[in-house]
Amino acid sequence: MNKITAAITAVGGYVPEYRLTNAILETMVDTNDEWITTRTGIKERRILKDPDKGTSYLAIEAAKDLIRKRNLDPAEIDLVILGTATPDLPVASTAVYVATEIGAVNAFAYDLQAACSNFLYGMSTAARYIESGRYKKVLLIGADKMSSILDYTDRTTCIIFGDGAGAVLFEPSTEGLGLIDEYLRSDGTGRKFLKIEAGGSLMPPSEETVRNKKHFVYQDGKSVFKFAVSNMADVAAKIMERNALSHEDVDWLVPHQANKRIIDATANRMGIENAKVMMNIAYYGNTTSATLPLLLHDYEKQLKKGDNLVFAAFGGGFTWGSIYLKWAYNSN
Ligand code: UT7
Repeated sequence: MNKITAAITAVGGYVPEYRLTNAILETMVDTNDEWITTRTGIKERRILKDPDKGTSYLAIEAAKDLIRKRNLDPAEIDLVILGTATPDLPVASTAVYVATEIGAVNAFAYDLQAACSNFLYGMSTAARYIESGRYKKVLLIGADKMSSILDYTDRTTCIIFGDGAGAVLFEPSTEGLGLIDEYLRSDGTGRKFLKIEAGGSLMPPSEETVRNKKHFVYQDGKSVFKFAVSNMADVAAKIMERNALSHEDVDWLVPHQANKRIIDATANRMGIENAKVMMNIAYYGNTTSATLPLLLHDYEKQLKKGDNLVFAAFGGGFTWGSIYLKWAYNSN
């Protein structure tokens, strides 16, 4: 019997309507389009304006898009994994609510939290369930309502992030398609550089934490940049080397969308030309857990069965890594 590998067999995505452009941000904080564009590559981000809707709304829309496109019976889904840094509630898994809302009545579900590496780590987790032979359909969603944890008076963070969601379906392949190799890393000394300080067990919420804006994202951008730019390139190069992939063998680089300069450095290190680098940071900004599946959603029509994709991500914690995956289907 052929070995079972975990292939991506469908993709869905969702971003909210509202566009927060650099021009609008110029009216909110002391910044300008030129600075944002040259330092990050971002032109606009999508924001979920409705105060009554949380991350689950984005995740449900992305999952529904996948279900509709694939004509999938949600009752066949075995497991729903939701990567998110912005769950609806601190306790009561958002994935469970999402699974119920999309009609995945036979699934179990849980959240996964590794900041901007949520989706990358989630691919590893989802693949293990499929490779075991026990589960046939695993829905992996990456979704974040970043606007819910941003201080829109802090120009160092509010210009970077946006809201969005993407979803993929993992199913067994006996043709050697899907996840081939992974190299995942983490380093806890990084947590001081990118965090939300309060609201957890270390610093529970209080009037003081609210007054001191401790519930918003804090980032020492320069330090995170230094780690991200070298580590994301390192792991991508390592995955290529380990699998004897030349730059010609790689059809697509699928990089986390945190900063265009980090993406360019990773592509340069791999020797990959721009045309093979998936990029949508200009329109969505950094959507944290949703960057990788939204890239697949946007580029799906250009992907061909057998294409070699190298994923790479870097996030808070620190968490980072790279995955080599063979694409499993042609669109249309
Ligand atoms: O996705 C999770 C992982 N996160 C990342 O990978 C993000 C990594 N970091 C970055 O992408 C970059 O560090 C940022 C985009 C966050 C910042 O870019 P930078 O080139 O590292 O800028 P900087 O923090 O060194 O700031 C340079 C200058 C400073 O002014 P002075 O001290 O030189 O006078 C800042 O105060 O730019 C100033 N500045 C701004 N100016 C206009 C900071 N933010 C802004 C702003 N508009 N929005």
